[in-house]
Amino acid sequence: MHFSLLAAAAFATALAAEPNEMVVRVDKPGAEIQPTMYGLFFEDINYAADGGLYAELVKNRSFEFPQHLMGWYSFGRVTVKDDGPFERNPHYVRLENPGHEAKRTGLENEGYFGVGVKAGEEYRFSVWARNVSAQAGRIRVELTDPDTMNESQVLAAQTVDITSGEWTKYTVTLKSEKTEAKGRLRIFLDSPAGVDLEHVSLFPVDTWQGHENGLRKDLAQKLADLKPGVLRFPGGCIVEGADLATRYQWKNSVGPVENRPLNENRWLHSFTHRFFPDYYQSYGLGYYEFFQFAEEIGAEPLPILSVGLACQYQNSSMDAHVPVDSLQPYIQDALDLIEFANGDVTTTWGKVRAEMGHPEPFGMKYIGIGNEQWGTEYVERLEPFVKALRKAHPEIQIVGSAGPSPVSMKEQFDYLWEEMTRLKVDLVDEHYYSPESWFLAEGLRYDSYDRKGPKVFAGEYACHGVGKKWNHFNASLLEAAFMTGLERNADIVLMATYAPLLAHVQGWQWRPDLIWFDNLRSVGSVSYYVQQLYGLYKGTHVLPLKMDGKPVAGQEGQNGLFASAVCDKNTGEYIVKVANTGDTAQKLDIRFDGMKKKAVLTQGRVITLASGDLDADNTLDHPDRIVPVEKPLTVGGQSLEVEIPAHTFSVYIVK
Ligand code: AHR
Repeated sequence: MHFSLLAAAAFATALAAEPNEMVVRVDKPGAEIQPTMYGLFFEDINYAADGGLYAELVKNRSFEFPQHLMGWYSFGRVTVKDDGPFERNPHYVRLENPGHEAKRTGLENEGYFGVGVKAGEEYRFSVWARNVSAQAGRIRVELTDPDTMNESQVLAAQTVDITSGEWTKYTVTLKSEKTEAKGRLRIFLDSPAGVDLEHVSLFPVDTWQGHENGLRKDLAQKLADLKPGVLRFPGGCIVEGADLATRYQWKNSVGPVENRPLNENRWLHSFTHRFFPDYYQSYGLGYYEFFQFAEEIGAEPLPILSVGLACQYQNSSMDAHVPVDSLQPYIQDALDLIEFANGDVTTTWGKVRAEMGHPEPFGMKYIGIGNEQWGTEYVERLEPFVKALRKAHPEIQIVGSAGPSPVSMKEQFDYLWEEMTRLKVDLVDEHYYSPESWFLAEGLRYDSYDRKGPKVFAGEYACHGVGKKWNHFNASLLEAAFMTGLERNADIVLMATYAPLLAHVQGWQWRPDLIWFDNLRSVGSVSYYVQQLYGLYKGTHVLPLKMDGKPVAGQEGQNGLFASAVCDKNTGEYIVKVANTGDTAQKLDIRFDGMKKKAVLTQGRVITLASGDLDADNTLDHPDRIVPVEKPLTVGGQSLEVEIPAHTFSVYIVK
């Protein structure tokens, strides 16, 4: 290269490499970061519950889908009956001899996109059954691999003797000899005498925390690994239902699983281009299981209840909603829920909780009323809830809604904030599924929020790339950048939950999502690792961090940098999070002002998320393509001189 060209190139590099001086005031710790700050938004969308986190492998186990044998292939003499032992799930099947010794009667369940089983693992099959006649019946239960080229399709088999004419629960364990994602559960009538079968269930024995009515271990573990401070459930639009009849009713989701009535999943209907006519809610993962899971992962439970409005997107007529003067049963549901979660065992609902195995209260502190509602119709319905809740339970914090979007429904957003302030709710739930430009422009979003009104729950958010509405690195990087603003404003932002959380690769309706899975595997997206880094390194207090006297929020002259700082009083660490959203590597000179004169930084490390390909993400086949990488840092004085590559999110941790 010609000398002058070389010199020009060197000059250009030097310009790009001018250090960005950031000052962190370690002697001026600010707001306490709430333990609830980063959490989980759970909704049964994308087969997140049935077919996902809920470990049940049988679809339509109670034969209650409107097409009673949906999910089942039947052969021989199978009839559906409706006078079964469980009042709210009355249907069951009768298997009878086909009348010829060489012919067979039975059923086969297709599971959720197949029945996933792993070699050497145990699966608990259970069924409620009775003999049809005085003669004893028997069934043979098999895990099968219908597509195999092997001599036999059978992966595991057991027989079950039906010993009574009364409805009785029978259980056997099957051990699969092979790993198969798309297996099936096959049941043969194995006796001349007929049998009745109800609530046919198959669970891995090895569930999260070993609960029989349990959660899929790998998915639950991934959620626990985020160290979430709050668990919002059960949604999302699912709270509202496509109509009032299909809203989520928590009382239907507790008590013995056999008697929890089926509910349609509103995501069944939402999109015809991704249509899943078999999407129903068994409520097997119900309110008890949500509270229990929240407790086990150390998250505050945050249930969201119907305010008496069916999904407002899908119901333009006011007749679709509960009239304001008829809200009492809905308000009572909210009051009863607090009793279910917190009441002592002598109360009606506290007793239900105790009978399910948790006599101790769950210690619920928050309740959300209405999901993503808007308009005067929301406010006039919320008001009587607030009055009743404040009167009966002043200790419970109430979450209200700011509607679907601060952009496309800005007028509503502003109106709702005013009304939420007037009603004095404790937190306002903001939702933003927004493009790259929004995430880049909103770094200072909360710096100017009124500190005297309700606090913020960023209850649903994700960067939806323009023309790239799926998981990819750049979207996650911009979420990380934006989140520095949540952290800096931890005095007003008390909770933030990315959404949606889980998606089956074959059954999704909405993307991007935090965690993807198939029947056997799961993978964290890059957004997952962003959430995890914030969750693991949330610290205890905000530290002021400025560049040229200004917050680092992608402002003009800040070279695409976003940054925030916290200290952790438990570990004695200072933690600085920096997102470089620009195309150029940036030198950072991070000064920790206010350290004692002779004190020096003694330990340092940096954890980085980076990708050469901005469109890349982790997949089931390549789960570790983009994961946090940790390296030691050279430290000594009272500052840190580092370089952050282009398009990188880094967490610097020093002691
Ligand atoms: O997260 C998916 C959906 O987005 C939620 O159900 C709803 O609240 C929002 O519109």
